[in-house]
Amino acid sequence: MTQPVPIKFRDSDADALATQPGRIAVLADAGAALSPLARKLDKLTRGAVTRAVGSDAFDKLKPGESLDLAFPAGLMAESLQILRLPRKAGQDQARKAGAAVGRALSGVETLVCAENHPRAADIAFGLAMRAYDFTPHKTAAPKPVGPVTVMVSAPEQVAAAAGAGAAVTEGVFFTRDLVNEPANVLTTDDFAARLAAMQELGLEVEILEEDDLLKLGMGALLGVGMGSETPSKVVVMQWNGGPKGEAPFALVGKGVVFDTGGISIKPAGGMEDMTMDMGGAAVVAGVMRTLALRKSKANVVGLVGLVENMPDGRAQRPGDVVKSMKGDTIEVINTDAEGRLVLADVLWYAQDRFKPSGMIDLATLTGAVIVALGHENTGVFSNNDALCDAFLAAAKAEGEGAWRLPMGEAYDAKLKSRIADMMNVGGRDGGAITAAQFLARFVKPDVPWCHLDIAGTALLKADSTLAPKGATGWGVMALDRLIRDRFEAK
Ligand code: BES
Ligand code: MN
Ligand code: ZN
Repeated sequence: MTQPVPIKFRDSDADALATQPGRIAVLADAGAALSPLARKLDKLTRGAVTRAVGSDAFDKLKPGESLDLAFPAGLMAESLQILRLPRKAGQDQARKAGAAVGRALSGVETLVCAENHPRAADIAFGLAMRAYDFTPHKTAAPKPVGPVTVMVSAPEQVAAAAGAGAAVTEGVFFTRDLVNEPANVLTTDDFAARLAAMQELGLEVEILEEDDLLKLGMGALLGVGMGSETPSKVVVMQWNGGPKGEAPFALVGKGVVFDTGGISIKPAGGMEDMTMDMGGAAVVAGVMRTLALRKSKANVVGLVGLVENMPDGRAQRPGDVVKSMKGDTIEVINTDAEGRLVLADVLWYAQDRFKPSGMIDLATLTGAVIVALGHENTGVFSNNDALCDAFLAAAKAEGEGAWRLPMGEAYDAKLKSRIADMMNVGGRDGGAITAAQFLARFVKPDVPWCHLDIAGTALLKADSTLAPKGATGWGVMALDRLIRDRFEAK
């Protein structure tokens, strides 16, 4: 797994600055007095810091942005990065400032002068989150990253606060690695093995194989995997850090390791992106990893349906009728609407076995949600305002875009089938909503539930604040926060 860069915290030491090699980053704000370390750097550089902070260029920077002084006279360092960050900066601004440092890491040492800034731990978190690079398939040696040290006035305290952040970063990196991995490497077997390896962290992990799924009656999920050489599986990950006997909260993920569309095959252009169609399962796995790493005091169960959607002589056909574990029959009009078939059975199994207090599923479910919301927001659907509002608040607090979309009977009516209990598609219009309506048929009415359609947010073609282009790990931060705030025994 891609490991986050280790970060050390030490006392502020102005005397170390002159001979500090590599890169130095320091905090400043226009119109505010320089901090002690910034003053020292200013003195050593004969006023370069004062001039930079007083410049038009600095004035135009938004909080969290930075400018670089290259090979500053008076310092041994090759670069002095001046981060614009007010003392009253919010969490997002502090993370952004840290990310500016994380993006610029190189083989040399990096020293961040955070001193007594109240957001020092957030700066470290942003730095670690942004310093991600997916390199397992590059034959050239990965770019080395030098050691990172943050100078703060209370190193022990900040290191402790940064500890919880480090668990989140590791969960996010686990998610990103899974999403970035190509489908010839990340088969269902490989995926399940990576999840099983998390038993070392104290998670209980079970793998249900095809014969188990057949006995459970998961005809909807099994239908999707029929054209594939790689076997369908359901993996169950339990973290029981909460009160004994308390019902767990369930996270359910779509894990289509590759989605060709099946017999309803997708066009060639862009099909390679469908290696990310296991993004929902990857987020569930990343959250479970974070909970284990920080020894969460909650009971949470993560369930993922791992399948591959391929065209083949044995693949399911458009028009086939399958029977779900719930017992409802489904006419498969379009084999490319496979995610909902997988989730239908995993959602039902989660409720049947665990009687959860609530349930959130994540899936790269529809292109339609991208038409509706673009890449800035995940589509949120729910049968329960309290859970939905709590999730939206957690996402907002973590700076992860999420926007609720409506549901309703008229949408549900689109799923009516002539020959079975329902069809698996409801037409082009409102496609993200009819997909959610399909899932809702497999949620018991008294179970609070949210569906998160992450088709637009799991993978980006451009860099974002906390991630380079590629997999984002969207949702790990928000779900970890939701669990911390709502389900942990205090
Ligand atoms: N995995 C896709 C959805 C998707 C599209 C994810 C783009 C990420 C980026 C899903 O299985 C799918 O193919 N959905 C179809 C549904 C349709 C056939 C009703 C779609 O969105 O076109
Ligand atoms: Mn599909
Ligand atoms: Zn899909």
